[in-house]
Amino acid sequence: MNFTYNNPTQIYFGQSQISNIKNAIPTDQKVLVIYGSGSIKKNGVYDQVKAALTDHSWLEFSGVEPNPTKETLDKAIALVKKENIDFILAVGGGSVIDGSKFVAAGAKYDGESWDILTGKHSVSEAIPLGAILTLPATGSESNSGAVITQAATQDKLVFMAPAVQPLFAVLDPDVMKSLPERQLINGIVDAWVHTCEQYITLPSDAMVQDGYAQTLLKNLLVLGENFSHRDNDAWRANLMWTANQALNGLIGSGVPHDWATHMIGHEITALWHVDHARSLAIVQPALLRNQIESKRAKLEQMGKTVFALEESAELAERTINAIEAFYHSLDVSTQLSEYNETKAQAIEAVLAQLESHGMTALGENQAITLEKTRQILEEAIA
Ligand code: NZQ
Ligand code: ZN
Repeated sequence: MNFTYNNPTQIYFGQSQISNIKNAIPTDQKVLVIYGSGSIKKNGVYDQVKAALTDHSWLEFSGVEPNPTKETLDKAIALVKKENIDFILAVGGGSVIDGSKFVAAGAKYDGESWDILTGKHSVSEAIPLGAILTLPATGSESNSGAVITQAATQDKLVFMAPAVQPLFAVLDPDVMKSLPERQLINGIVDAWVHTCEQYITLPSDAMVQDGYAQTLLKNLLVLGENFSHRDNDAWRANLMWTANQALNGLIGSGVPHDWATHMIGHEITALWHVDHARSLAIVQPALLRNQIESKRAKLEQMGKTVFALEESAELAERTINAIEAFYHSLDVSTQLSEYNETKAQAIEAVLAQLESHGMTALGENQAITLEKTRQILEEAIA
């Protein structure tokens, strides 16, 4: 397929790179530093940011929650407008970076901020922003997407706009030292599913995209297998760079995409607050089994190249089993059990949300209708 590829985010990779933001943001710019619940105050990242911004005029906004909400971010939009902020510096994981993108776009719009997610407002301008990544997983630090939740209605929706792509991203693997094990595992799983959603589709003869996707998947497999050696500079650096490359637009250029696992997973997170990555592990194996015929060729390719499985008639089935076993090896569940309703009610709740968001023909073939999703959820919900 034809494609236009440009990733304008400048990457500062490696130890001690946070100090470089001093030069990356012009000193005449008034900066708003946005962060989450305060992990950056405990691990020294906040102090490094403070030291780097001594020549800048800056303010801060904290309290962006995991799965960031419009309700919280509206307060930051008001602050940006009131203080005439010129530049936003996001310091955190995907939630803080996504939230900052929403603030950057919302500050240039006079209407209701949620219009950005419904599509009523199409984002063409935003306050410029940069990111200091503290949790490798989403790739948000160098892409133009953001996922925002409206808590009042339990809607978790995506918007994409080139105007909110960070101008720079600092990837210092040392910041990962304070990450809880659970979040490191989430990072592996999220990056894995990002790669899969741009790879396990239809054969496209795209040797670069396929080959690189296979490399990223093999990296993640090795990092998972070596999880006990995670307190190691190379392990951290490899996860940080792999997760970035999985969703910076490169492997997705010119090839079909799926994203059904993500869309169904977002509804599970909105309803039951399951961590983003864990919602994906719940949906994906059941979805792959449901869609096995149209995905057979790529599953076979993945089985051979990523898992080194022998050729056989059931190679695609064994590849899905291997994916599921990988999640289980990381102690990540592939079924949802944290819900209070009956199973039937839980399935109806997800389907109603998907229908209200127009997610009724998902996947690379638009073949995942609500009926197919129902079959998938029968397997994915315990
Ligand atoms: O609140 P803080 O203090 O930042 O603590 C966070 C949070 O509690 C903590 N944490 C982050 N870095 C840390 C740290 N704790 C200790 N040391 C550090 N260095 O980890 C917790 C989870 O953080 P969060 O940002 O929520 O995690 P993640 O990066 O997995 O982001 C998930 C969000 O990104 C969206 C998801 O839907 C979800 O809302 N996604 C965004 C995408 C994109 N923009 O391209 C694509 C993804 O598929 C995904 O949908
Ligand atoms: Zn994801």
